[in-house]
Amino acid sequence: MPESSPSAQTRAHGVASVLLDEATIQGRIAELAAEMDEWYRPAPGQHPVPGGGEVPLLVGVLTGAVTFLTDLMRAMTVPLEIEFMAVSSYGASTQSSGVVRILKDLNHEISGRRIVVVEDIIDTGLTLQYLLDLLERRAPADIKVVALLRKHDKPGAVPVSVDLVGFDIPDEFVVGYGLDYAGHYRNLPYVAILNPAVFDEPSPTHEE
Ligand code: XMP
Ligand code: MG
Repeated sequence: MPESSPSAQTRAHGVASVLLDEATIQGRIAELAAEMDEWYRPAPGQHPVPGGGEVPLLVGVLTGAVTFLTDLMRAMTVPLEIEFMAVSSYGASTQSSGVVRILKDLNHEISGRRIVVVEDIIDTGLTLQYLLDLLERRAPADIKVVALLRKHDKPGAVPVSVDLVGFDIPDEFVVGYGLDYAGHYRNLPYVAILNPAVFDEPSPTHEE
């Protein structure tokens, strides 16, 4: 097996198994992007102006959604713009606390804009619910939500409407493709399940 293959990289410290390999993720992103292109395709003869109400604004939730957003936007063909928000919902643990703090807000007003919240993963849905409430108060034209991953059958999850989901996954803590544990593993090109023993190792506080 070539050293660069995902399976070879499972030998990286702490990675128990690969849940979604690189080709699977990229294939699904192409499908999501094609669907999103349909949502925002300009009418024939229409030339969207920068910052105009018809141009979708992809709002990436830092830090985990960076990888997904950058691949997703490059797979899309319609004119679009991007911004980022940073929130913290976890503190140092691997369980959502429901307490969401805005660490970085948007740089521009979004009134009248078409917003797409781009999330890495929806776990309890608390982070997304908070973000949607906040953004809706700013009177955008509409808001859609695209998430790469969603944990299905999650006990205690809040019902929050998501327009597109890349993959429904089991309720396990996952890393890679932007997702971290204690700041590590974001650069893996695939999504992996960690060996639980990693959680017993000393770790610093981390952000989303
Ligand atoms: P909630 O529970 O509010 O959580 O939907 C959403 C945020 O929590 C992070 N999260 C994870 N991060 N592996 C991670 O690296 C996971 O399995 C995981 N589950 C939730 C993530 O930042 C997400 O935005
Ligand atoms: Mg995280």
